[in-house]
Amino acid sequence: MILAIESSCDDSSLAIMSLDDYSLIHYEKLSQEIWHEKYGGVVPELACRLHVSAIPAMLERAKPYFKQLKALCATSEPGLSVSLIGGICAVRALSVALNLKAFGVNHLIGHIYSLFLTSQIKLPLGVLLVSGGHTMVLEINQNREISVLCATSDDSFGESFDKVAKMLDLGYPGGARIENLAKNGDDKAFNFTLPLKEQKRLEYSFSGLKNQVRLTIQEQKKSNLLQDSICDICASFERVACLHIMDKLERIFALREFKYFGVVGGASANARLRASICELCLKHGTQVLFAPLEFCSDNAAMIARAGVDIFKNNAFSEQITLRARSQIDKSKLF
Ligand code: KG4
Ligand code: ZN
Repeated sequence: MILAIESSCDDSSLAIMSLDDYSLIHYEKLSQEIWHEKYGGVVPELACRLHVSAIPAMLERAKPYFKQLKALCATSEPGLSVSLIGGICAVRALSVALNLKAFGVNHLIGHIYSLFLTSQIKLPLGVLLVSGGHTMVLEINQNREISVLCATSDDSFGESFDKVAKMLDLGYPGGARIENLAKNGDDKAFNFTLPLKEQKRLEYSFSGLKNQVRLTIQEQKKSNLLQDSICDICASFERVACLHIMDKLERIFALREFKYFGVVGGASANARLRASICELCLKHGTQVLFAPLEFCSDNAAMIARAGVDIFKNNAFSEQITLRARSQIDKSKLF
């Protein structure tokens, strides 16, 4: 078995996975959302303190499996350094105590592996990664090499939902809250412009859309109409944010043939986005893959799944350290 810890942002999670058949033997996740909610976003200092109290308790509960462990891993990049360090230190200490190898796992590669929690990797594969920290389209070829086809130049898709939610005083995280309110709104009520419509370069940008929403909220407030237009604002914003993702994806699908296309990251839970991607994949004869809903957002199961392949392929460095910079372009699955 392998033990994995994920603590890159505001979720503390621990998983133990079988090296033989990838079965999840033990799994825990403690979300810090309620602690960060009143600040409208993740407060690093608070996240660090919460990890430091949650992780040792999780390790205590995982103790019955310690004798069967062959290796340990933790997310080592990218993420909030003060959060990552919680998982890394725990795994380093345990590696000394149990005399086991400990290695780092790239969080983004972990998200890709969330598609293969119970199966072998399917290649060649296109991936849309949409989370609070990242928005990118990746291609993974038969040799398991990863290329970034498109990324955001400013905010991420999930982050733009969080920021719009903050402007509307809906709390944190914003994704699911906006999506729920949008269900009762008119998605054409506000005609937000599609970002980078004329731009040929493959790139995402959500800051302009966020600004349009901010100005609309200001106007609605001035006219005392905001309370009645919240659902319409959410629906109109969600429609254009998803359209922006799809606009670039359609261009990518016109240039590339994907046998498989996966959607990963916390924001891949968005039903509107899922439906649009299913439609696009159907049109192109591509098989669409989603991670189980429970494992779309940050979790240690996906880190353990990546960890199993890293361990089996001997693809780890000597000791786990906090990686200052993270590069996924031109890296490889294991
Ligand atoms: O992958 P994740 O748990 O953390 C990061 O690695 O960032 O993703 C969390 C992000 C948050 O920004 C959250 O608002 C967004 O995913 N999210 C959604 C939805 N559910 C979560 N965004 C849009 N629609 C959703 N239903
Ligand atoms: Zn993530």
